[in-house]
Amino acid sequence: MTPPGEKMTPLGEKLIRRIENFGPITIADYMAACLGDPEHGYYMAREPFGVAGDFITAPEVSQIFGELIGLWAVECWRRMGSPDAFVLAEIGPGRGTLMADALRAARIAPGFEQAATIVLVETSPRLRAVQNDTLAGHAVRWAERVDDLPDGPTILLANEFFDALPIRQFLRTPEGWAERMVGLRDGELAFGLRPGARIDGVGDAAPAGAVVEIASISTAIMATLAERLQRFGGAMLAIDYGHAETGYGDTLQAVRGHRFDHPLAHPGEADLTVHVDFAALAKVAAAQHARASEIWTQGDFLIALGLLERAGRLGAGKDSATQDAIRAAVERLAGPDAMGTLFKVLCVTGGDLVLPPFG
Ligand SMILES: C[S@@+](CC[C@H](N)C(=O)[O-])C[C@H]1O[C@@H](n2cnc3c(N)ncnc32)[C@H](O)[C@@H]1O
Repeated sequence: MTPPGEKMTPLGEKLIRRIENFGPITIADYMAACLGDPEHGYYMAREPFGVAGDFITAPEVSQIFGELIGLWAVECWRRMGSPDAFVLAEIGPGRGTLMADALRAARIAPGFEQAATIVLVETSPRLRAVQNDTLAGHAVRWAERVDDLPDGPTILLANEFFDALPIRQFLRTPEGWAERMVGLRDGELAFGLRPGARIDGVGDAAPAGAVVEIASISTAIMATLAERLQRFGGAMLAIDYGHAETGYGDTLQAVRGHRFDHPLAHPGEADLTVHVDFAALAKVAAAQHARASEIWTQGDFLIALGLLERAGRLGAGKDSATQDAIRAAVERLAGPDAMGTLFKVLCVTGGDLVLPPFG
C-alpha cells in the first residue's frame, strides 16, 4: 500500500514483520500501533497540531473555544456547591491549549483554581512535555489512564479524545459476519477479511455489505467515567466528530499534512481516527445511572454558551485584519460547513446535576 516511489515507514516495516510472523492483525491493533507504538507511534513521535502539522483542533482555532468551556466549568463547579476540593481533568489534552484558555477564563471565579486538582490524562511523554510548557504557572499533574484519577467530585473535559481510540470493524457478508483485518498482499499492508466472526446482539438487522464498528475501549472508558461521576458527583463534556445515532459504515480515516491519506499508506506518520458513536457513549453512561444529555452539535453548543458575544468583545476596537480573523474562527468553529455540525457534544453528569445549555 506504499505510494509509488515511496519507502514504507519504519513502523510499517515493523508491522509487516509482525504480520509475517504472527498473522493478520485487527483494525484495533493496527490503530493502537499507529497511534501509540512507543518508538514510532503518531502521538509519541510527531507534532501533529497546527498549520505545519496534520490538523487543527478547535482549541487551536481560537482561544474562545477554551474560554467558553472554562466558563462552563465554573458554572458546573458552582452548581456542584463550589466544593473547596475537586478534580479538574482533561483526557487527551494535546498541546494543553484548551486547559490554559479555560483556566484563564475561570479567573472570574475566586477559589475555582485553588480548589482544583488539575490532572491531564495523557499517554505521550512528548505531549506531556509540551503541556507542561503551555501550563507553566499552574499546578498540574499527569495520569496515564482514567482509572488513575484521584477520588473526588470531578469536572472532566475530552475534546477529540474518543476519535483516537482503537475500534474493530465487522463486515456483513452473505455468509455471516467477517472481521476486517490488516494483512499482507504482495509483501505490502492490505485490508482483508477473517470470516466466522461473532458480534452478539449488534447489527442483527444489518444488510449484506454493512460495516459495523465496535468501540469497546471507548465504551469501557465512558463506563468508568460515568460510574465515577455517579459516585463522586460532577460532569463530563465530550466533544468530537461523529454521529448522534448509531449507524453502519467504515469511518476509519487517515489525515496527513491537512489531507486525507490512505489509512495503510503511512503507518505512524498520519493521524488515524474514527467517527465517534455518541449514541453508544450516552447509552453506556445511562447504564451506569449517570445522566446523559441530548447530543448537541458543536455550533449550537458554542452559540448557546455565548460564542458570538465573546467574539464581539474580543474584536471590539481591534484592526480589521484581527476582526476578520476572529470572524473566520467563529465560522470554522460553529459554521455548518465547518466544525459546527459534524462535531457533537455530549454532557454526562452524576446525581441530579443539570447544566446549561443542556437542561
Ligand atoms: C487529536 S488529539 C486532541 C488534542 C486536544 N484535546 C485538542 O483538542 O487539541 C488526541 C490526544 O489524545 C491523546 N491520547 C491518545 N490516546 C490516548 C489514550 N489512550 N489515553 C490518553 N490520551 C490519549 C493524544 O496523545 C493527544 O493528546
